[in-house]
Order: sequence, then structure tokens, then C-alpha cells
Amino acid sequence: MTIGNAERESDAEPLEEGDVDLPKIGSRARYDPLMAVMKNRVTARAFDPAFTVPAEHYDLILEAARHAPSGANSQPWHFIVVRDPEIKRRIADYFVDEQRARAKMKMKFPTPDYRGLATAPGFIVVVSDFRWVQAFPVLKDDDSDLNRMYRENAERILLQSVAAATMSAHLAAASLGYAVWWVTAIGQENAQTAMRPLLGIPDELSVLDIFAFGPPARPPYKRWKKPLEEISNVDRFDPAHFMSDDEMEDWIRNKRHKVMFKDAGKVD
Ligand SMILES: Cc1cc2nc3c(=O)[nH]c(=O)nc-3n(C[C@H](O)[C@H](O)[C@H](O)COP(=O)(O)O)c2cc1C
Repeated sequence: MTIGNAERESDAEPLEEGDVDLPKIGSRARYDPLMAVMKNRVTARAFDPAFTVPAEHYDLILEAARHAPSGANSQPWHFIVVRDPEIKRRIADYFVDEQRARAKMKMKFPTPDYRGLATAPGFIVVVSDFRWVQAFPVLKDDDSDLNRMYRENAERILLQSVAAATMSAHLAAASLGYAVWWVTAIGQENAQTAMRPLLGIPDELSVLDIFAFGPPARPPYKRWKKPLEEISNVDRFDPAHFMSDDEMEDWIRNKRHKVMFKDAGKVD
């Protein structure tokens, strides 16, 4: 699907090693601009409702998704750009209802306010087709435990592939200066039955995520990230990085809401 001009930037020849303008391999001049985008990618859950995303920005963003890696190079993704405010509103209504249902069930998950979806200037629905698991290492027509393991693995490959493309799109949007919002469309069948007809999605396909973006309604803030030492290990897993069940439970009870919604301090 092409929303912008037929003749797009992407049709230009890619830069090759040796082209005059490319800094040499390993140069910070290559790394720093990418890292600036990565650091500035932040989640916002409310956007400026008056802003209109220029049509070509959707192409720029989805062009980044198109280049993502995927298992077996299957590229198991579809993206639906939603520009109709009524469709946005109806999808937002679904999530607001889900938010209420979770509160009623006392799930204790700090569920965000999904009303911001209705007026998000940029709105892209991320869709996949689980039949693609057949493209990954699985045995055909086999109900064995062994094949269940392969199928689980294949589902992970599929989800990671779509996440790679989605993340690429988020970074492209962040590079344009937009704040982004990654919303999981839950796997539940009722999420699918609520959204498929609105978007004309065939039954075989599933909505995996919603990607909303735009200028944020309020200045966004950078959330806490684990320090580098805490996530990196060399040659062997550092046992000091292992969390016990109790520590994890404590983290979920006492820290999760802070790192999701509040600035937990210095981030570099
Ligand atoms: C796979 C994935 C699923 C997410 N699902 C939701 C979601 O359903 N609703 C939501 O409000 N945020 C969701 N988020 C956003 C995270 O809450 C957010 O990325 C996190 O709190 C870190 O904040 P940051 O993006 O500003 O770094 C999701 C993020 C990822 C990567």
C-alpha cells in the first residue's frame, strides 16, 4: 500500500561502502545519530489531537518496517494506516472497555488510559497471519509433543519478526520527532472479533498491536532504564544479575507502576 507519491525516497539507490559521504566502519559518526533517535524514542499516551500527520510520513515509517529482519525472510506483517477518526474512536472504545474489565477483575496491572488512542494523529494497526508459522522449522500434520515444541518456537519467531518490523517503524517515527505508543492488542478472540470487521481483516489474520504516534500532548519524559552493567554479561551469565522469585514479586508490586508511569530518575 502506498499513501505518498509513487516515486519515493526508497526507490533511490542505497548508499554503498566506499561512497564518499559514509563515515568509516566503526565510526561514532555512524552510531551517534542512530543512538540519538533511540534515546529520544519515548512513549506518550496522549497526543496533540489537532495535528495532522502528512501522508508521506506514513510511507517513511512503513518503509523502515519493510527493511526489518524476519524468520525465513517471511515478512509476516501487514500494516493498516487508520486515518478515519470514527475507526480510531471505535478501536479506542474497545481498549477503554478492556481497561475497565481489567480493573473489575482486580488484575492489579497499572492499566493506562486508552482514551488517548481516539485522537492520536498517527494510527497504524499491526497485523499478522499465524499461518506463517509453517514457514519456520515445524513438522507438517504432526500432533506430537516434539512438534508442539517446534510450533511454540515458530510462534516466537513469528512474534519476534513482527516486533522487529514494528520497532523499526517506531524508530522511524521517533526520528521524525514523534512520540510513540505501542499498544498490545491482546491475543484474545474478542479483541480480534471487535477489530477485524472494522478494518476488513480476514479471519485468518490477527491484530497484534496498535502503533499510535504524534506530537505529545504534554512534554514527554524519559523512563528509567536498567544500567548497562545490569544487562551485560561477558562469556558467562553473571549470577549477581539473577532475580529470585521473591525479588521479582517485590519488583512487580513496588516498582512496576513507577517505571511505567513516572520518571524514576536519571537515565543515561
Ligand atoms: C511489546 C510491548 C507491548 C506494549 N504494550 C503496551 C500496552 O498494551 N499499553 C501501553 O500503554 N503501553 C504498552 N507498551 C509500552 C510500554 O509500557 C513502554 O514502552 C514502557 O513503559 C517503557 O517506556 P518507554 O517506551 O518510554 O521507554 C508496550 C511496549 C512493548 C514493547
